[in-house]
Amino acid sequence: MNKIILKLENLNKKYSGNVDNLHIIRDLNLEVNEGDFISILGKSGSGKSTLLNLIGMLDKPDSGKIFIDGEEVEILNEEQLDLVKNKKLGFVFQFHYLLPEFTALENVMLPGLVSDYKNKKRVEERAYELLKEVGMDHRMTHKPMELSGGEKQRVAIARALMNSPKILLMDEPTGNLDEETSEMIHKLLKKINLEKKQTIIVVTHSKELANLSNKKLYLKKGVLDLEENNHI
Ligand SMILES: Nc1ncnc2c1ncn2[C@@H]1O[C@H](COP(=O)(O)OP(=O)(O)OP(=O)(O)O)[C@@H](O)[C@H]1O
Ligand SMILES: [Mg+2]
Repeated sequence: MNKIILKLENLNKKYSGNVDNLHIIRDLNLEVNEGDFISILGKSGSGKSTLLNLIGMLDKPDSGKIFIDGEEVEILNEEQLDLVKNKKLGFVFQFHYLLPEFTALENVMLPGLVSDYKNKKRVEERAYELLKEVGMDHRMTHKPMELSGGEKQRVAIARALMNSPKILLMDEPTGNLDEETSEMIHKLLKKINLEKKQTIIVVTHSKELANLSNKKLYLKKGVLDLEENNHI
């Protein structure tokens, strides 16, 4: 039996604009199974980042329910929310958000130290293993400024995986990288999905990346659709 790791029920999100209310997410429903690799496509402004931010608990819906690993997010207290955010979700953005004053290794360690600060040694060992997995162990003492765009993104992926999140959320992770570097990261994501059964939800404009996923969903008029045809 497949385990449902993420469930969205009648989700709604509006922004108040100057002229009218922008009803960006409209009664949206989604079920994601553990181990799924889902890509979310859609034209610019369709609400992809809005949706991902709701799932990642960076923003709140106006109505509707979000269940992460069986837990309804809305009814959790602050402490429980932090736990879900830190332990169950990993986030990678288009423009990496590595901390400039820390090395690659330290950046990967940070989410681990937040939840397991007493075990610095263990966290460091895991961070090193993760950097090896993404092919960045040879640059572990470099600071973000001393890394290329693709290298920074690989470190960001390692960091997002630090606490073995149930869901890896990514918003255009290769949006500002060249084709060759993008392809390498796409393959890395596929490998992580297959080898670790890591659930991945990625927002992307890249057809190549979408083709590696096992389900392509198109965001149009506030809902997700399997069909590409009517997405523009
Ligand atoms: N904080 C906000 N306040 C008001 N409107 C917003 C806000 N954030 C986003 N919007 C609007 O909501 C719509 C959806 O934005 P969103 O960033 O989710 O789109 P997107 O699909 O991620 O686009 P892109 O592919 O360009 O990244 C856009 O029309 C945007 O202008
Ligand atoms: Mg976006």
